[in-house]
Amino acid sequence: MLILCNWKLNGRKNMLSKFFIELNNLCIKFRVKSDISISPPIIYLSQLYEILKNINSKIIIASQDVDIHTKGAFTGETSIYMLKDFNVKYVIVGHSERRTNHFENNKIVACKFKIVKKNGLTPVLCIGEYFKENFNKSKIFIKNQIDSIFIEVGEKAFRNSIIAYEPIWAIGSGISADPNYVNDIHNFIKSYICEKDVFFKKNNVIVQYGGSISKENVYNFISKKYIDGILVGGASLEVKTLFPIIKIVEKFLE
Ligand code: PGA
Repeated sequence: MLILCNWKLNGRKNMLSKFFIELNNLCIKFRVKSDISISPPIIYLSQLYEILKNINSKIIIASQDVDIHTKGAFTGETSIYMLKDFNVKYVIVGHSERRTNHFENNKIVACKFKIVKKNGLTPVLCIGEYFKENFNKSKIFIKNQIDSIFIEVGEKAFRNSIIAYEPIWAIGSGISADPNYVNDIHNFIKSYICEKDVFFKKNNVIVQYGGSISKENVYNFISKKYIDGILVGGASLEVKTLFPIIKIVEKFLE
């Protein structure tokens, strides 16, 4: 099971070593089998790469974003080639905070998804509705987000890819979505993708849940049939809040 952590605009140079050494030691001590991946702000990727290399850690590096261009006159952007230089495996695309604060529409998100795949990294496509809607309205919204990926990348787009279902109202609010509702949405996402990509098995479509995950609620999500893993924001900023979540996942997998 993948536990993907999104630090957003948090973390500082002087806390990285301590954080990762502590987390890595705990992972070794408790023989953690889940995949733990962390996406710090992009400026810290190279430092993270060095730290993980020095301690021979299995923690996986993720990026919060990537540009749609690989090089050239694009001030402030980060290329997929640069992410590859630092052993990044997962690239989050279309996080709701990028969509809202940086006006990334479905087309731009699909181009990012495409460039990640083309370069052999794994895109983590964030999707989810803005407001607490009824199930049918959410489905229409999500279907539209998924369709834009199919249009840009083709019917096999979601092979070797990850979807993170994150209802926007549940992000950073402390109010997570109802796990049964999330399970139904995940089931819909998997079925819909397999309707389009007919030879793709529903079991192989990976859908994570994100939105106010904590040690108190994580079991209710991961124990559901169609929830394959989690995306953790706020609770991943300190080892003392993240590791209890990892331990609950590990216990569940035993
Ligand atoms: P949160 O963030 O866990 O703080 O709600 C999740 C996310 O935005 O990925």
